[in-house]
Amino acid sequence: MGNFICLEGIDGSGKSTQIIALENLFKNKGFEVLKIREPGGTEISENVREILLNPAHKNKMNNITELLLYNAARAQLLHEVIKPALEKGVVVLADRFAYSTLAYQGYGRGLNIDMIKNLLNITCGDCFPNKTFILDLPVSLSRERQARDGARSGQDRIELEKNEFFERVAEGYRTIAKENPKNCILLNATIAQDDIFKLLVSHLDG
Ligand code: TMP
Repeated sequence: MGNFICLEGIDGSGKSTQIIALENLFKNKGFEVLKIREPGGTEISENVREILLNPAHKNKMNNITELLLYNAARAQLLHEVIKPALEKGVVVLADRFAYSTLAYQGYGRGLNIDMIKNLLNITCGDCFPNKTFILDLPVSLSRERQARDGARSGQDRIELEKNEFFERVAEGYRTIAKENPKNCILLNATIAQDDIFKLLVSHLDG
C-alpha cells in the first residue's frame, strides 16, 4: 500500500505550500507522487465542485445537500483515482479529505457528528489517510489572507460565510485533532512555512 497523507485547515493556512514541499521530498526519495484536492480531482468531482462553490447558490443550498455533494465528489475521487494509486504504491498527497466534512458540515454547519461519521464510513470505507496534518490558524489571519487572494480570484460560496462559521470550523479541527491523536497532528500555522515543514517531516519519520 502507498502512503496517504492529508493536509487540513481553514483557508490561508498554507496547505498548498506544504503539499508542494512534501511532493518534492517524496519525489527526491524516488517515489511516484499524486496530488489531489477536494472537492475535485475527476471530471465528475470537478463538476460537483462547481455546484458546491458557486457563489450564486449562497443561501439556497440545503446543508444536507451540501453534505451529500461533498461526499459524492469524494466517493468518485476515491474510486477513480485514490484507490488505484495507493494500490500501485503511489504516495497520495491530499489537500483536504473527510475531516473537512466533519469540520465544515459537522462543527461549522452544526450537523450531527455521528451521522456524518456514518456517512464518511459509507464514502471512504477503510480508505483513509494514514497521517493528517491540521494547520491551525486564527480566523482573523485566515480572513486577511482570503481577502488578499479573493481580491484576485473572487470569493467562493463557502468563503462568503461569516467569521463565526470559520471560528466553529477552526475549533472543530482542534477537537478532531484531540480525538484522533494516532493519525492526526495539529500544527501551529502562524510560524514560517519552512519551520512548519520541518515539524511536519519530523512527524512523518516518527
Ligand atoms: P478549497 O479547494 O479552496 O479549499 O475550497 C474548498 C472549500 O470547500 C473550502 O472552503 C472548504 C470546503 N469544504 C467543505 O465544506 N467540506 C468538505 O468536505 C470539503 C472537502 C471542503
